[in-house]
Amino acid sequence: QLFVNASQELWRIPETLFGIFFEEINHAGAGGIWAELVSNRGFEAGGPNTPSNIDPWSPVGNLSYIIVSTDRTSCFDRNKVALRMEVLCDSKGSNICPSGGVGIYNPGYWGMNIEQGKTYKVVLYVRSLDSVDIVVSFASSDGSRTLATDHIRLTASDVLNWKKVEILMVAQSTDHNARLQLTTTKKGIIWFDQVSAMPLDTYKGHGFRKELVDMLARLKPQFIRFPGGCFVEGEWLRNAFRWKETIGPWEERPGHFGDVWMYWTDDGLGYLEFLQLAEDLGALPIWVFNNGISHNDQVDTSTVFPFVQDVLDSIEFARGDPNSTWGSVRAAMGHPEPFDLRYVAAGNEDCWKKNYRGNYIEFYNAIKNAYPDINIISNCDGSSRKLDHPADLYDFHIYTSANNMFSMGHQFDHTSRAGPKAFVSEYAVTGKDAGTGSLLAGLAEAGFLIGIERNSDVVHMASYAPLFVNTNDRRWNPDAIVFNSWQQYGTPSYWMQTFFRESSGATLLNTTLQASSPSSLITSAITWDDPVGNNNYLRIKIVNFGSSIVNLKISIDGLEPNSIVLSGSTKVVLTSNNLMDENSFGAPNKVVPITSQLQTAGKDMDVVLSPRSFTSFDLIR
Ligand code: AHR
Repeated sequence: QLFVNASQELWRIPETLFGIFFEEINHAGAGGIWAELVSNRGFEAGGPNTPSNIDPWSPVGNLSYIIVSTDRTSCFDRNKVALRMEVLCDSKGSNICPSGGVGIYNPGYWGMNIEQGKTYKVVLYVRSLDSVDIVVSFASSDGSRTLATDHIRLTASDVLNWKKVEILMVAQSTDHNARLQLTTTKKGIIWFDQVSAMPLDTYKGHGFRKELVDMLARLKPQFIRFPGGCFVEGEWLRNAFRWKETIGPWEERPGHFGDVWMYWTDDGLGYLEFLQLAEDLGALPIWVFNNGISHNDQVDTSTVFPFVQDVLDSIEFARGDPNSTWGSVRAAMGHPEPFDLRYVAAGNEDCWKKNYRGNYIEFYNAIKNAYPDINIISNCDGSSRKLDHPADLYDFHIYTSANNMFSMGHQFDHTSRAGPKAFVSEYAVTGKDAGTGSLLAGLAEAGFLIGIERNSDVVHMASYAPLFVNTNDRRWNPDAIVFNSWQQYGTPSYWMQTFFRESSGATLLNTTLQASSPSSLITSAITWDDPVGNNNYLRIKIVNFGSSIVNLKISIDGLEPNSIVLSGSTKVVLTSNNLMDENSFGAPNKVVPITSQLQTAGKDMDVVLSPRSFTSFDLIR
């Protein structure tokens, strides 16, 4: 039997409790939520040296028609590499170009999604010693079918110096695996640099792939932790995320090789874009900065000050006055209003490293001195023992088996109520229980989150990890949202989070479960006022982690007689036939919450809980 005391309000759950953690992993950003279609747009992958790695660019035409190389003649100081294309054939004479011309193409991130009727903006920089006649086209993956096409015809004097060209192209047909081509049938040498192609229609017009960000918005995240994870650290400091290299005009950003997850990012999704995404989602940004520590090297505390100054600059960039040094850079990028940056985290998973504490204290003192209201998150786990340094929150990560995750619903029951609060910034069931996103994993995590809700006096934030995976580059399993160039679906771990989206800021009620111990059930009850409909909701969530049906009697104390409005009161269930069931592109809704109208509801309810299920009873008062 479950007793819910609707009049015994324990506390208001923190507004910030449930959010998301975005890491540039699995091509979550480059080739993911950042809608740029061109991969390696500046031919810079591999760093500033030439020859540079131009992958995935390839020539159209063979060596008897075209020679492709790189040099350092770009007009952009921070990314000097440009592509040099020497065309040996012509439209007349002894070496006639193949029909369709020769040139280069970019397949994007495992194919570009070009959709009929949609408009795409192509921007590129071009230079030549002679006039140019270039065909810009979106084509099928083998180049045989053209989806959209346009011409760049410029005189020699137009292109003697680098010339920026912008074109809007409307697709005449659809291909989810398309490529961008730049071709010509004119002999000569052409240099290209910073070639970009983006759909015009992006989330709030800010460059994000709409359907993917819609999935984030559906979670109503209260915060977004970014940009990693290990991505922040780097295998080596030289490859860590450096925010100053990711701001300013996109053409001028050098890009960098993320050496933990082993891919190049053009950094179109940079520090400002992360802050913008947070703002667009109505979520608080949580900026995880590099604290002078990577996986393999670390800066000594005596010399960490440049890193400290860099972080102070980043805070000024985010929330400084538009007249301040870095606030003015933000304003020049089109965002004069400060962002609502209230939280920063000093590094990721490196509490155990030699210089962590020393470096942390330098960051802590400098940030608190300049910005006393900023909350600082330590990497050291304060759940089992008192931290030996000041912090507003401490970070807690857990990747484990399903059984262990479910039993961790009680992880914070005995944590000291004094001291900094927990930020469970990464949690997930991994390994064989999870596959690439199983029901079993989602249920165990739901049990863990119910435990977090019940301990939200000491846990102030929680986010699943990782958030996204592009199926073409799975660096980590499982993930909450799976996508390719044009499709996406949520794993059960994504859907179970939707049960918690009203929890942040709601009121936790007292519940008592009378069951055998250890129980395969875990429950919580919350209440909140719906600001739109003027209703009051009472939500009772129950995970049945066992393999048997459970007949449960729910008794709600403190309800006014006949106060439940049946119409609109619902039961939502997440379950499936098999524990290891997963969603897929072919069956994206195999394991999703199913909502049904409640037929009866009142002070006493006899409910049936399916084996291995997560159920939410939403009662309207
Ligand atoms: O979420 C994937 C990785 O797991 C993160 O980068 C890191 O913080 C953790 O080890």
